[in-house]
Amino acid sequence: MPKPKVYSTHELFPEARKILETTCEVEYWGKPERPAREDVLRRIKEKDGLVCLLTEKVNEELLRNAPKLKIAANVAVGFDNIDVDACTKRNVVATNTPGVLDETTADFAWALMMAVARRLAEGEALARSGNWKGWNLDQLCGTDIWGKTLGIIGFGRIGRAMARRASGFQMKVIYTDAQRAPEDAEKAVNAEFRDMNSLLAESDFISVHVPLTPDTRGMIDGPKFHRMKAGAFLINTARGPVVDEAALVAALEGKKIAGAALDVYENEPFIHPGLKRPNVVLAPHLASASVETRTKMAVMAAQNVVAFFDGRLPKNMLNPAVMKRA
Ligand code: DGY
Repeated sequence: MPKPKVYSTHELFPEARKILETTCEVEYWGKPERPAREDVLRRIKEKDGLVCLLTEKVNEELLRNAPKLKIAANVAVGFDNIDVDACTKRNVVATNTPGVLDETTADFAWALMMAVARRLAEGEALARSGNWKGWNLDQLCGTDIWGKTLGIIGFGRIGRAMARRASGFQMKVIYTDAQRAPEDAEKAVNAEFRDMNSLLAESDFISVHVPLTPDTRGMIDGPKFHRMKAGAFLINTARGPVVDEAALVAALEGKKIAGAALDVYENEPFIHPGLKRPNVVLAPHLASASVETRTKMAVMAAQNVVAFFDGRLPKNMLNPAVMKRA
């Protein structure tokens, strides 16, 4: 039997390649830059499977160009790049990579929070510049993190991992979500539920951990910034469009908040010029970027594809209805 043909829009790590290649004939996009859309659409034509990054839109257009496609495996937990309904209509299984990046992403959200509060990026630039004249009493004084209130928007796996880290900093942790979590989950990380407005008013640091959905798009908007403390910092490692970027820039310009630390942007890789200011720490969508975690993500995507073509249920299906129909 010929092996199923799979296109991967990135080379993947050797551990993942090994898994994928046992069952599939794989064509990889081998260059560091993203493949052009036309190229993806051309290469996907005869393929049975796709392994893709969050930068690739798996939408009607792609699916129309891939009449043989049976599975699209995203190497990311967030799947706002995938039109799951369109996949379901065309009997294409869609998968993602939940669970393996929670701790690494929370680590990075903390790194951002500490960097912006303690002015690390400014300090680093000064230390490298050759202009540092030595210790001074009021030089680059930042804001304490310990003992403050951390507000978490989105109390899923990553939000809880974020909360868990706060105990070492003697922080008060509050969270909000569409639904209150069970009491044992709150107790496990010492977090208290608040409605959104109370959380915005009480928090010194607000960290966003919701997926991008029609409900969360633009969720942190102008009125929300007005409810925050003047000394508050916003940290976003979730998805850029959850925050109204123009409203964030206006809040920073108007000193409605003290600063922001961002890993994600509304129109990546474009970064709003109004965000390039000293009280904003900017990272290029790196929160899950440790070798260990990115390897696990690629392996998980490969396992999902292989399970499907071996006639097993992929573990991380976003549209299980497709398999039930088969
Ligand atoms: C995801 O997985 O959704 C992240 O944004 C990339 O790790």
